[in-house]
Amino acid sequence: MLIAQISDTHIKTPGRLAYGQVDTSTALTACLAHLARQDTQPDLVLFTGDLADFGTPDEYAHFKQLLAPLGLPVYLLPGNHDDREAMRAAWPDAPWARRPGRLHSVIENWPIRIICLDTLRPGSGGGHLDPEDLAWLDSTLAEKPGQPTIVAMHHPPFLCGVTHMDAISLDNAPDFAAVVARHPHIQRILCGHLHRPIHAQVGGRPVVSAPSPAHQVALDLAPDAPSRFIMEPPGYLLHLWVPRSGLVTHTMVIGDYGARHPFFKDGSLID
Ligand SMILES: [Fe+2]
Repeated sequence: MLIAQISDTHIKTPGRLAYGQVDTSTALTACLAHLARQDTQPDLVLFTGDLADFGTPDEYAHFKQLLAPLGLPVYLLPGNHDDREAMRAAWPDAPWARRPGRLHSVIENWPIRIICLDTLRPGSGGGHLDPEDLAWLDSTLAEKPGQPTIVAMHHPPFLCGVTHMDAISLDNAPDFAAVVARHPHIQRILCGHLHRPIHAQVGGRPVVSAPSPAHQVALDLAPDAPSRFIMEPPGYLLHLWVPRSGLVTHTMVIGDYGARHPFFKDGSLID
């Protein structure tokens, strides 16, 4: 099983640039083209939030238009830039479309089970899970303790050292950590929000955040670091289930890097 994780696409209406500078539409198109060029196509594509930049119906319509060439199953969870009701209206067939409350969901019937969490707190950049959300996560994880599982969410349940991002992470991360610590079948916790590929550990479980296919958060570890982005190479993640080994995560760097070159010729390393 191969899972593509694309995060923080921040799609705007056609012709508009994020922060007046970033052409997020072209960036998503380049990301999908890069994915399409891979030898092995993923079984599904999981978008971990900030699909749109301001969560308007027009932005979601544009997002759907840009996704049209994809031809793969798509799963969505919201980020702080998204709007639940606008997402429900845009995807009326989604599992959460006709349910009130948060847009949690579970992707079943694959070797890896994926639990998608909605950490959005309307009006805030930061994320939160209420006691009932944590109870739902706990009981959903307990349903299939023998099945390798991914927990996917937008807000990181850890601090990364970039203070302005840490200020808007999952604000009750210790409560989340206590739940995942009880479930050793969690192979990986996936998040977005940080616009950088970052690895951490929460409740004894490995966590990775995805880069954005558009702009990255500037790495500035100063305590008073201002909130800034940088056009470092864009990317996305591929998560591969390797039987008898486990889940491995490949960071994909979007771009055209030319041909593939052999290491060997006639069975010998090229000197
Ligand atoms: Fe974002």
